[in-house]
Amino acid sequence: MKYSALIFIVICFSFSSCSENKTQTFEDTSSEKVEVDAKSLFILHCESCHGLDGKKGTSGAADLSVSKFSDKEILNVIENGNDKGMMPYKDLIATKIERNALVEYVKALRVNK
Ligand code: HEC
Repeated sequence: MKYSALIFIVICFSFSSCSENKTQTFEDTSSEKVEVDAKSLFILHCESCHGLDGKKGTSGAADLSVSKFSDKEILNVIENGNDKGMMPYKDLIATKIERNALVEYVKALRVNK
């Protein structure tokens, strides 16, 4: 076991291609750095109602630029939706890493941080 891991590492170092393609999104199962494009996720799933600046308000969407929701509340509304028109995104945005990145993205839209 130990040997095969070592060989794998050696192979990785000898083929630089191993260190490329790291920008893809994947579930973090190790300590490996994961890059999530939260902006693209927001544009894909949230922009239609909330707008790029969070103020659009389509379908009665909350103004994210003045939201006072805590991290936990934001995550909860992303995962489970609400009874005012937002649907749950737990299945559509499948990884916790992506959902947490969206929490940070949503907070960054605030005018008073
Ligand atoms: C179909 C339109 C729609 C889409 C798409 C949508 N939302 Fe919402 N969102 C709403 C509505 C409606 C509310 C509730 C407004 C209210 O409480 O009066 C809301 C509320 C929220 C809140 C609570 C803010 C607060 O202070 O009340 C957050 C955070 C939020 N949305 C984030 C997101 C994120 C992140 C996405 C994308 C994953 C998203 N929304 C996609 C309609 C939408």
